[in-house]
Amino acid sequence: MNHAAGNGHMQSILVGSGWHGQLFAAEMSALVGKVNPLFGSQRLLFSATALTASDLSFSATLDDLLQPAAHIVISGEPKEVKEDDLKDAFAEWLTTTSLTPEMGTVAVRPTRHGERASGWSASALAGHLGAVLSAVGWSIDLEDPQVEIGLVVNCQSGLIVWGLSHFSAPPRAGWKQRSPTQRPFFKPVSLDPRHARLMLNLVRSQGVILDPMCGTGGIGVEASLMGISSLSLDLDKEMVAGAKENFSWASDNGATVEAGLQVGDATELPNILDATILEEINGVCVDPPYGRNAWRSEEAGNLFIRVCASTRKVVGEGSYLVCMLPCEASGDEKIYGQSWSEICAAMEEVGWKVNGKWLIPVHASMVRVMVLARTA
Ligand SMILES: C[S@@+](CC[C@H](N)C(=O)[O-])C[C@H]1O[C@@H](n2cnc3c(N)ncnc32)[C@H](O)[C@@H]1O
Repeated sequence: MNHAAGNGHMQSILVGSGWHGQLFAAEMSALVGKVNPLFGSQRLLFSATALTASDLSFSATLDDLLQPAAHIVISGEPKEVKEDDLKDAFAEWLTTTSLTPEMGTVAVRPTRHGERASGWSASALAGHLGAVLSAVGWSIDLEDPQVEIGLVVNCQSGLIVWGLSHFSAPPRAGWKQRSPTQRPFFKPVSLDPRHARLMLNLVRSQGVILDPMCGTGGIGVEASLMGISSLSLDLDKEMVAGAKENFSWASDNGATVEAGLQVGDATELPNILDATILEEINGVCVDPPYGRNAWRSEEAGNLFIRVCASTRKVVGEGSYLVCMLPCEASGDEKIYGQSWSEICAAMEEVGWKVNGKWLIPVHASMVRVMVLARTA
């Protein structure tokens, strides 16, 4: 028989966009500390602490923060949601929160994760929660509510999750307008906002982040919009001039911090960076060349390791480095013609200990690998 098999009053539930479950978990733990998957879900993570939206407002992978939040799990096959069980659990949770009808109008926002299933319509289940809210005195306003309750249902895992929603829209506003082709200076290598934000969030810098191979400045643009100070370099003067155009365009479009920029060789950082900036750099984002066949090239691999060695000399202990490396999409996933363990060993030899790697598909013959390392 089907029944509500479990119920909890989690402090905070993080709802992922579904783009990349592993990077969602990595980004969340970089931003808010320890998180765990809710019943193995890749798109629902919980934290025992009361998180706030300001911790997460520049996330690249989050759809919503539900806090306070709760869930029930329906077990048995087929999984059947009993209206009264759901209403009782929701009503009981409401009494444990500080939410009251005096706060204004309310709407329940339904989302489905996983496949559709009969009896699991997210909007029908949202209607049940709405009925409970009405019964205890709330006015429903689906157009412009003052309070939003998020509801996420997943029939395959039997999960129903709800909580006070902290983002009426996912924190990705403006990405389309900032896509690489919309910027004044564009090259096919230009990094898109999603990848740049992820790199910046994983690097968790408290000071200035360094982008030593900046190209068109995709990382610096996002950093300045996120209020993170950055210093970007490129060997190619044309790229630096173009990145400068992109940075002033970012200033006109909401950037709160100026982005620093200079022409320079990423393998010579200790000799070319100003002494005052050296004290402030405490994170590195590297997006090395990945043009035709770079992912197979020993020369490109050597350049990458020399850049790692150079960046290590200009950051303090405990700093992070995040890079996007080109990788062959064949089964053995070679990077610069080398195995993953050879790349890790080479990075460690120059002072960077690898903490994580995530594959990001680009096209049929290439994936990119986001790599996170910390000073060894
Ligand atoms: C993949 S692109 C970076 C793309 C960039 N993230 C963007 O958003 O446009 C790599 C850049 O590395 C630069 N580069 C190559 N060798 C370099 C070196 N030794 N020092 C600094 N920059 C270098 C290239 O000129 C190129 O602009």
